[in-house]
Parts: sequence; C-alpha cells; structure tokens
Amino acid sequence: MISKEIIDEILLRNDIESLIGNYVSLKRAGSNLKGLCPFHSEKTPSFVVYPADNSFYCFGCGIGGDAVTFVKQMEHLDYPDALEFLAKRAGITIPLTNDRNYNGKRVDKSRVLKMNTDAARFFHKCLMSNDPEAKAALAYFTDKRGLDLATVKYFGLGFAPNSYNAFSNYMRKLGYSYEELTEAFLCGKNDRGQYYDAFRNRVMFPIIDVSGNVIAFGGRVMDDSKPKYKNSSDTPVFKKSRNLFALNFARLTCSEKLILCEGYMDVIALHAAGITNAVATLGTAITSEQARVMSRYTKKVIISYDSDEAGKKAADRAIKILGEVGLDVSVLNIPGSKDPDEYIKTYGKEKFEQLIDGAKSEFEYNLESITSRYDLNLPQDKIKALKEVEKLISEVYSSAERDVYMREVAVRFAVDMKSIKNDVERMISKRTYTKKKEESKNLLRRSEGFSDRTNPDFVKAPAIAKNEEAVLGLLLYMPDHLKRVVEKKLLTSEDFFTELNRRIFEFLMQNYSIGDVGPPDFNEAFAPDEVGRIVRMKMSRAEFTDNGEAILEESIKNLKASLSKKKASATNTYEGLNALLAKKRDN
Ligand code: GTP
Ligand code: MN
Repeated sequence: MISKEIIDEILLRNDIESLIGNYVSLKRAGSNLKGLCPFHSEKTPSFVVYPADNSFYCFGCGIGGDAVTFVKQMEHLDYPDALEFLAKRAGITIPLTNDRNYNGKRVDKSRVLKMNTDAARFFHKCLMSNDPEAKAALAYFTDKRGLDLATVKYFGLGFAPNSYNAFSNYMRKLGYSYEELTEAFLCGKNDRGQYYDAFRNRVMFPIIDVSGNVIAFGGRVMDDSKPKYKNSSDTPVFKKSRNLFALNFARLTCSEKLILCEGYMDVIALHAAGITNAVATLGTAITSEQARVMSRYTKKVIISYDSDEAGKKAADRAIKILGEVGLDVSVLNIPGSKDPDEYIKTYGKEKFEQLIDGAKSEFEYNLESITSRYDLNLPQDKIKALKEVEKLISEVYSSAERDVYMREVAVRFAVDMKSIKNDVERMISKRTYTKKKEESKNLLRRSEGFSDRTNPDFVKAPAIAKNEEAVLGLLLYMPDHLKRVVEKKLLTSEDFFTELNRRIFEFLMQNYSIGDVGPPDFNEAFAPDEVGRIVRMKMSRAEFTDNGEAILEESIKNLKASLSKKKASATNTYEGLNALLAKKRDN
C-alpha cells in the first residue's frame, strides 16, 4: 500500500498534459486537448485530455482516467508499478516499507534485500572456503566450466553446502527468523513443520537488480541429477517475469544492442570473454514485461538461444514478443555448438563477434524459415513460398524497408520485382480496408449501446443505464451532494440495475467521506475501460453543475421511475396472467 499523500503528490507532480504529450501529439480544442488515441487505431482524433480535471477519455475505445490509468495502459504496468513509474518521472521516492506478505503482514523490503545480501555473502564465503566440499564446488566452476577466479568473484558466485541447516543456522545468528527466510524463498517448511535450507549442495548464482540489490538466487547441481536448477520463486522483492540476469552489468554497455541468452552460464561465459552486453531470462520463457524492460535500455536485441529444437521454438516466440515492444530483433545462428557458452569457449571472442555481425534480421530469419519448408525448384512450392514471403513483407511497416526486401526476394526467387510489389500492395490495402470497416462497425455498435464490453448490462436496459450514468456523473462532480445522497439514503445500491454502475455507486458510498472521489481513487479497484467510463460520465455532466441540485433531483427521479417502470412491466405480465386465470375460473 502506498499512502494517499504520496499518490496525491505523484499526481500533482505529473501534469497530465505534459505526460500524455510525450506519447501523443495533442492539439488544443477549447479548454481541452485532442489527439489520436494511442490505444486503438484511428484516423480522426477522438482522444481528449481534460487538463482542468487532470483526466483523459477516448470517445472511440472508451479508455480513460488519470495519469496512473494512462501509464498502466501505455506502459503495460500494474497499479503499483505505474505509480512507481510516475514517481520516478517526478523524482519522488516511494518508501519501500509498505508491502504486505501473503499472510497480510507488513514486509520490510529493505530487510529482505539485506537478508539476500547476507545470504549471497554466506554462499560466496562457502565457495571460497577450504572445506573439501567447497573445493570441489569451486573446481566445478574453474575446471569444469572454465571460469577464472576473477569471473567467479565478479558475479558473486557461491556454494550452498550439503546440509539442511548450515545456512539457516548462520542466518538465524544474524537475527533473521525462519519466517523471514521462508518469505525470501531461502528456507522451506516440511509437513511436520520443520524448516530446512532451500538450497543444498548447489553452486549458487545471485540475481542482482539494476540498483545492485541481490533479489534472488539460482542454484545448479554439479552433476547430472535433477532438477538441474532451482530458482527462487517470486518474493516481495523479486518478480521472475520482470528481471533479467546480469542486466546490472549489461546496462552499462548495451545502449546499441543487447544479447539475450537462455542460461546463466551462457551469460557468464560471454561476459568473461569481454562481451558484456549479454543477459538471460530467469529460467522461464521471455515475457512482455522483460521485453519492455529491455526496450528501456537498448534498441536492438540479438537472440542467442541454444541451437536445439527447444531453443529455436523459444527464439520464434521471443522474436514476436520483442518485436511487439518496438525492438529491432536479430537471431544468432550458432554453428557447431549447442549454446553460446560452448561456442565462445571453443572458438573465442572474435568468432562470436563475427556471428553477431552476421546475425540475421527478423525478416531474414523468417524468410529462411519459410524457404526451408519448400522446395523452390518445384513451381507449386515456389508459388506457395512466394505468397508467404509477400505476406511477410506486407506486414513490414516502413515502405523503404519493404522495397529493400522485395528487391532481395525478386532476385532470390527470380521473379519480377513489379509483380511482387503489386501483390504486396494489394495485401496491404485489403488489410487496411477490413480494418477500417471493422473500426466503423465497432464505432456504430458502440454508439447504439450494443456490445458494450465495459458495461455488458447496458443493452438489457439502455434507458435505465443512461439514467444511472447521469446520476453517477453528477455525484462525481458534486461531492457535497454525494455526501447528502449517501447519508440521507436518497439512493441505495438497489437503485442500480447494471452491475458496473452499481459497483461504482457502492464504491462512492464507501469512499464519499474523502470528499472528491475521482479517477485516482478508482484506479486500484476498476479496470482502465471502467475508469474511462467513469471519466466520461463525469465530463458529460460538466455543463449541468450550475443548477446541479435541481438536475440531480430530477435525474434521481428519472432513474427511480425507469426502474419501477421495468419492475412494473415485469409484475404486469404476472398480474395479467393471474387476472386471466381468475377470469377463466369465473367462466
Ligand atoms: P548449463 O547446463 O550449466 O550450461 O546451464 P545453462 O545456464 O546453460 O542452462 P540451460 O541452457 O540448460 O537452461 C537455461 C536456463 O533455464 C537456466 O539458466 C535456468 O535458469 C533454467 N533451467 C534449466 N534447467 C532448469 C530446471 O531444471 N529447473 C528450473 N527451475 N530452471 C531450469
Ligand atoms: Mn548451457
């Protein structure tokens, strides 16, 4: 939980006009600003920013809210991360101490970080000790994996002894409780309630974030037993899906390009050889969150996965995910070795750099994968392959880039460049047409109240829903009246027919005492399109507030009337039936 004071401070220092202006080109329209919506594709601007209210709303797709909603949607962040993003932007530090663990207890993040650092020191000390067991572990790194001592120290590598309590006994002497150690995934608890060290007889890889904190560990067995690696699960200070191994080092030299590997050992081998812009995911397939993190540090990612089938599959997936965040992507082909680690040890740094220089662009890689599936000597195959390639080219955004590819393909397939160009252009215009048609169809349906995904109950009773929106809009605008309506029970949640609007009203009932309830308060409990709806309700009532009280009375009356009309028509059917039956009996 981040305190309301801090949230207010963050919003105050992130003026919505300049924030959104970084992403969208805005033009003044009266007291508001307008632009093309960044959340759906459109040709005419329906995205409005209301500086006076510090809010925005898109009349096309319905997304709206405040700075936090915008960042949530734009940067694909969850609520706390969106706040952190805006805090950073404004130079505000959010205190680290307010999280809660799964038991609902407060967790002091800085204490967890300190615990991890102490753990890393312990593991490293164990690796460097004179114990025979430790000597074998060090030999695993130096002899078996070919690392020098400097690299072992640089990465803070360690060794977890083969014991159920050596580690936890040490940590408990430093003052950490079993609960805390378990929270950080350093201890486990068995069925009989006994605690044990989570990492035993493994060489240890500390995972360090970009601020230099030890946030998690990976531990590898030194033989062929299973599981090969054990990695920390998510903890209050660690999210597997967001962090990258060695980004703390790589960030210094990766502004041009970043090399993405599968394994810790690949990354360590590359860094040891002087290729310091390499990172790896943490034992999982790459996520969009990680892709976005990378896009903050670099423009280009070179995927350098294992050469086996699994590695190729993973590369296909990574191409897609990295491309989606706008990164320039290439794929490395590692000939004659199973992974980058093995390659660089066998052939050296220079050869690896040559591989990087020759890395295939995303387009070339896809082209190769298409042509490898067909026999281009067979006319039928060639036609099918060409069609797939043309589709690939048609998806390239820049027309200059498309030209380059078409020229290349014309030569490769020995066909006229003009005919390729014709085909590609036809594909593009067909796609644009379908998209446009879809867009206008959606807009029409929305304006008619059909297929309202934000408030699915709208269609069941449009008249009531509209009255609900009118009432809520006014209540949002006039906190004094909200207070009066709630305290005098002029409305109850029973007066709302649609689920969304009832939820909004109930939220207002619970929070009216803070005064002006606005998008910042809704952000945690409501989705961006719902917050958007709330902003729209509010903004569409702006012109009525001069005569607010009377209009509110009127709107409440209308809402109750439309609701009882619906109820009456339901009862009427029932009473009518009864009357009919009674008549029958009389006869
Ligand atoms: P080496 O076999 O020592 O070369 O390891 P590597 O770092 O090259 O790992 P590999 O390519 O086999 O796997 C890639 C990554 O997947 C590893 O770095 C781990 O993070 C993760 N991983 C591999 N095996 C396991 C496993 O058994 N369990 C879990 N949780 N993760 C694993
Ligand atoms: Mn490996």
